[in-house]
This record gives sequence, structure tokens and C-alpha cells, in this order.
Amino acid sequence: MKLLIIGGGNMGLTYAKSFLKSRIVAKEEMLILEKSPEKAVELTKLDIGVVFGETGDYINDVDLIIIAVKPQDTSILFSNLAPYINANHVIMSIMAGVKINALAEQLGTKKIIRAMPNLPAQIGTGMTVFTSSDAVIRKELILVQNLLNSTGKSIYKDSEEMIDAATAISGSGPAYVFYFMQSMIEAARNMGFSQAESELLTSQTFRGAVDLLNKNDINCEEWIRRVSSKGGTTEAAFQSLEKFDVSGNFKTSLNAALIRSKKLSEIT
Ligand SMILES: NC(=O)c1ccc[n+]([C@@H]2O[C@H](COP(=O)([O-])OP(=O)(O)OC[C@H]3O[C@@H](n4cnc5c(N)ncnc54)[C@H](OP(=O)(O)O)[C@@H]3O)[C@@H](O)[C@H]2O)c1
Repeated sequence: MKLLIIGGGNMGLTYAKSFLKSRIVAKEEMLILEKSPEKAVELTKLDIGVVFGETGDYINDVDLIIIAVKPQDTSILFSNLAPYINANHVIMSIMAGVKINALAEQLGTKKIIRAMPNLPAQIGTGMTVFTSSDAVIRKELILVQNLLNSTGKSIYKDSEEMIDAATAISGSGPAYVFYFMQSMIEAARNMGFSQAESELLTSQTFRGAVDLLNKNDINCEEWIRRVSSKGGTTEAAFQSLEKFDVSGNFKTSLNAALIRSKKLSEIT
């Protein structure tokens, strides 16, 4: 299988490295198109594939094209790319807010996949939600899911609307986790721990809680019940969390991300 990654930035590079590591794609079959000459030199030094600076006939026999550039770079890219696109190409875009219809129209093709990965993909613990146009066949979806799974986990959704929802939950999600971690670190500092100790206490607590959830068949609500004893410290914290409706306010914030995600899809 021949694969072309367009954009050798954070995500493009993450994909190239993960796909090679998983051995799904061989180095000779990994093509990278990067417009920045400096980045192209760096990518060539990494020896992870064949690096190109512009579009060309080499695109004709590529099976899968992954678009990993910023949405604002699409107009130039699409006009350069469209002449080389044929009906056999499967296009996968990870650009936030660029809809399947817009991709199909501007590239003049039907096989489109949209995926929303997140930052931990860089270390193999990413979460990706993806969807596709009707023209993409099952075999092609399985191939793409295998590739995506080399960066973590993935789920397929029939509805493109769920890409906006995924953007609000797992796409932006790492930032929410860092926000809560930062609050805990600051609280630990205020209680007398050093910065390093506060970070360790917090990150190990998050890791432990996630591991407990993943390794047992017990949901979050039940774990909260198990940690909280009557008249204890956790209960005191939860009385305060409930008084300020932290859960309700957090859900409202996530909804703001969903509204913004939908708005961006309308603009693009
Ligand atoms: N990073 C994430 O965690 C994440 C998560 C979900 C989705 N995404 C999406 O992934 C996409 C890429 O994000 P990123 O963080 O990897 O961005 P990035 O680091 O800026 O990488 C994009 C790369 O594409 C290059 N480029 C731009 N136009 C090009 C063209 N016409 N042909 C070839 N290369 C071109 C850029 O070069 P220049 O530097 O010269 O412009 C840059 O090196 C974005 O659309 C973003 O919405 C990212």
C-alpha cells in the first residue's frame, strides 16, 4: 500500500512514525509532501519516507492520501492537488471543521474519510473518531482503522456530526484534563508540597484512577462511592463540588466547545 501524508508537522510526523513502527507501511511506500523547505530537510534526515516539496505525478499511484495541514492552508493545497486526484484515491482529512462535502467538491472525488485525532496520538495513546462518505468501501475503512489504531484507539461513526462532538470531547479533551490537573497541582502547592511533589501527586493520582477504571468493570459513579465514606474528606470535597455545580458547569463548557466546532464547520 502506498501512502501520502500531506503536511509533515506535528500530526503528519506522528502518523509517519506510528505507521512505520506498526509495520503496516514500508518506508519506501511512505511519501510525505511538506511545503516548508526547512521542515522537508529535517524530515529527510529522519529517514521515515520519501519527502516531496510539491505535488506531482508521483501522486497518481498512491492509495491513501492523508491531509494533515491547517484548515487555512487548504485553498492553495486543493488547487495544487486536485489535478492529480483520481477515483481510486482514498482521502483522509484530519483538519478540524472541513466537511466531507467541501473536500469532495474541491478535490473532485468521492472517497473521503474525516478523522479527529487528539494530542496523545504522538505517544500511541491517542483517541480518534472517524467517519466516511458512502463511496469508501469496508476494506478501505478497515485499512484506515488499522493505521489509526497504531496511534491509540479509534471508533467509527456513521454521522459526520459526531466529528464535531468528538472535537469537543476527545479532540480538545487533553486540555480539560490538564486544566483539572493544574488546579490540583496549585492546591497541593498551597497545602505545602513542592512543585515537583505536587506534580507527582497529581499525575500519579490521575494515572491510578484511569488505570482502575480501565482494569475493572466498575463505572466512575461507583468508584466515587467507594472512595467516599460517610463524614469523610472525599465527601466534604463532593459537597463543595455539588454546591458550586462543578459538573453542570463543566458540561456547559464542553457544550461551548461543541457549538464552536459546529460554527467552524459552517465557516469552512
Ligand atoms: N495537533 C493535534 O493534536 C491535532 C488534533 C486533531 C486535529 N489536528 C489537525 O491536524 C492538522 C495538522 O495539525 P498540526 O498540529 O500537525 O499542524 P502543523 O504542525 O502546523 O503541520 C502542518 C504542516 O503542513 C505544512 N503545510 C501547509 N500547507 C501545505 C501544503 N500546501 N503542502 C504541504 N505541506 C503544507 C505546514 O508547513 P508550514 O509550517 O510552512 O505552514 C506544516 O509543516 C490541522 O488541520 C489540525 O486541525 C491536529
